[in-house]
Amino acid sequence: MTGSDKLPLVVLISGSGSNLQALIDACQAGTLPAEIRLVISNKASAYGLVRARDAGIPTQVVAHTDYASRDDYDTALAQVIDQSGARLVVLAGFMRILTDGFVRRYLGRMLNIHPSLLPKYRGLDTHARAIAAGDKEHGCTVHFVTPELDAGPIVLQARVPIEPGDTPESLATRVLAQEHRIYPQAVAWFAEGRLALGDNGVAQLDGLPIQP
Ligand code: GRF
Repeated sequence: MTGSDKLPLVVLISGSGSNLQALIDACQAGTLPAEIRLVISNKASAYGLVRARDAGIPTQVVAHTDYASRDDYDTALAQVIDQSGARLVVLAGFMRILTDGFVRRYLGRMLNIHPSLLPKYRGLDTHARAIAAGDKEHGCTVHFVTPELDAGPIVLQARVPIEPGDTPESLATRVLAQEHRIYPQAVAWFAEGRLALGDNGVAQLDGLPIQP
């Protein structure tokens, strides 16, 4: 596949960037026909920026602390994204609540990964909440982003068992390994033109509704 056949995308991060690394690795391995045009972080200290630079990918810090309001920040962010020429926005541990206007601008072309089996455990501390609830299993979800937090149409999920004695950290490690497997897979579907958000608000793979 030549460079021009590859889907241009941006990845937005705030921290470690292990999901970003999984995407970089899949691009390099040829299993993900995409070109990461730019990695954007709202934090200059995010380790994912180092991962991007090591892979020769351009980076940009758009610090939320530089903007007076959420609207101003999201406007600046959208400008940077659009200048990159990206056709898909991949949220990978981007720890920001996005404005409705921003989400609508990228509706159907913005994905997120969340560390729970949505619709269970939207928001933070998902691993601790699953353990505290006595759940037998936990997991992760790739979904299209819609204005309601962590409530967008589901694309792909992976399940892991919760073992006796699991801590939020041990469980997070088990879930993260699955995140690194399913996120590149879902992004590859999009890049191959197989994945779309239907007009009815349901995610579709090869034209068929995805039923998680
Ligand atoms: C992951 O658990 C992801 O599901 C959540 O934030 C975390 C990001 O981890 N949205 P990393 O920065 O990709 O290592």
